[in-house]
Amino acid sequence: MATYDLAIRGGTVVTAADVTRCDIGIKDGLVAVLAGAVTDADTVVDASGLLVMPGGIDSHVHLAQKAYGAQMADGFETGSRSAVAGGNTTIIPFAIQPKGASLRESVKAYHKEADGQCLVDYGFHLIVTDPSPTVLGQELPALVADGYSSFKVFMTYDDMVLNDRELLEVFDCARREKALVMVHCEGYDAIRFMTERLEAAGKTAPYYHAVSRPQIVEREAAHRAISHSELIDVPIMIVHVSGREAMEQIRWAQQRGLKVYGETCTQYISLTADDLKGLNMDESGGKYVCSPPPRTRADWDAIWEGIQTGVFQTFSSDHCPYFYEGDVGKLNPKARTSFKWVPNGIPGVEVRMPILFSEGVAKGRITLEQFVALTSTNHAKMYGLYPRKGSLAIGADADIVLWDPNRKVTISQALMHHGSDYTPWEGFEVTGWPVGTFLRGKHVYDDGKILGGPTDGQFLPRGLSPYAKPRGTGPAYEG
Ligand code: URP
Ligand code: ZN
Ligand code: ZN
Repeated sequence: MATYDLAIRGGTVVTAADVTRCDIGIKDGLVAVLAGAVTDADTVVDASGLLVMPGGIDSHVHLAQKAYGAQMADGFETGSRSAVAGGNTTIIPFAIQPKGASLRESVKAYHKEADGQCLVDYGFHLIVTDPSPTVLGQELPALVADGYSSFKVFMTYDDMVLNDRELLEVFDCARREKALVMVHCEGYDAIRFMTERLEAAGKTAPYYHAVSRPQIVEREAAHRAISHSELIDVPIMIVHVSGREAMEQIRWAQQRGLKVYGETCTQYISLTADDLKGLNMDESGGKYVCSPPPRTRADWDAIWEGIQTGVFQTFSSDHCPYFYEGDVGKLNPKARTSFKWVPNGIPGVEVRMPILFSEGVAKGRITLEQFVALTSTNHAKMYGLYPRKGSLAIGADADIVLWDPNRKVTISQALMHHGSDYTPWEGFEVTGWPVGTFLRGKHVYDDGKILGGPTDGQFLPRGLSPYAKPRGTGPAYEG
């Protein structure tokens, strides 16, 4: 019997810390050795000419959710197929508490959707929409202890928005339980005001979605969330930052020494508000409706500034897939009456890593090590999965992506494995593409072919995030 089950040989191994030429030996699903030559293995994969990196971790994806009467285009099977084809081995979707419902029951419902249906490993963030005394005092503490160690809260959306008092209560609970809070920063009342004015003026086409949610509403909400975080002394992660204004708020908070983290997404370095333009609902503007909306090319520069200087720790997809055509998609009959009803969100888990690699590494904006940190390692560290995930250290899960840095691909719907009937990046050209994915040592994707199955993915109870540790000082807790 050979010493190792699998050897990946001759590649360039990249982690968040180093770039090295070495082989990797894998035993029982774990990284067992990194060495100049690993020959004694049952199976040998030739990775010469390829990068060998930790599998991608996308910590912001939505699967099997319902909103606006529209049905999401991906459940766990198709969504995780798309993830694995995009070089990912772990995803962290959301379990949403419908207002008035038990959070524990909601988590059970999402497990029913996911368990035995997922091709990659997965955890869940909780979305808290109704922070009742039972939720704050009993359900959240028990769920954090069970491995759901992060929650998301919304400052917008009719069925999810929390008012300031509720935000403070959730922040306070997170501080007590040492959970990490993710915040969707867009101001509810300002958006409603803008929406009503635009509708009254007959401006209902998809483009006005972007006009109704200008950067000022994101900036204001980011500042408010940061202020609440400082008051309570609880670290927060501001998710899906779209442009300069919110990025600068986070940078300001970090410069004050606050534990405020930032996430940005593919759409904010590659799409603009102009993509939403279309004279009427039948044109393709609705394909790009997501929140916050894509901004301008100048904002792409600001996002790169934030990536390069460390304002952002994670780069996610915010994969939130809807169909475009049909009665349950973005063009559903109600959505045709106003941008307000177009389901928010776009599919992107499969193109997140290729677009960041192409726009970032291939164009010289970030290093290979930064790429790994932004797409894998920092997600694991931020959300309590490190060092089992996000690294290629001895003893880590052998979650590995083989990457051809020179492969030129034109993104098209025909290449995608997601359930949506379109990709917002149709025709987008990238350099660099995943050509093999291993999940705990199992070869689950090989250059266009899905080899894994829906029972491969395991649920990951997550530990507490070291990033969620309070600073130990803040007005609400000072003597
Ligand atoms: O438009 C988006 N991003 N929808 C997904 C829900 C969210 O806010 O992340
Ligand atoms: Zn959000
Ligand atoms: Zn999202």
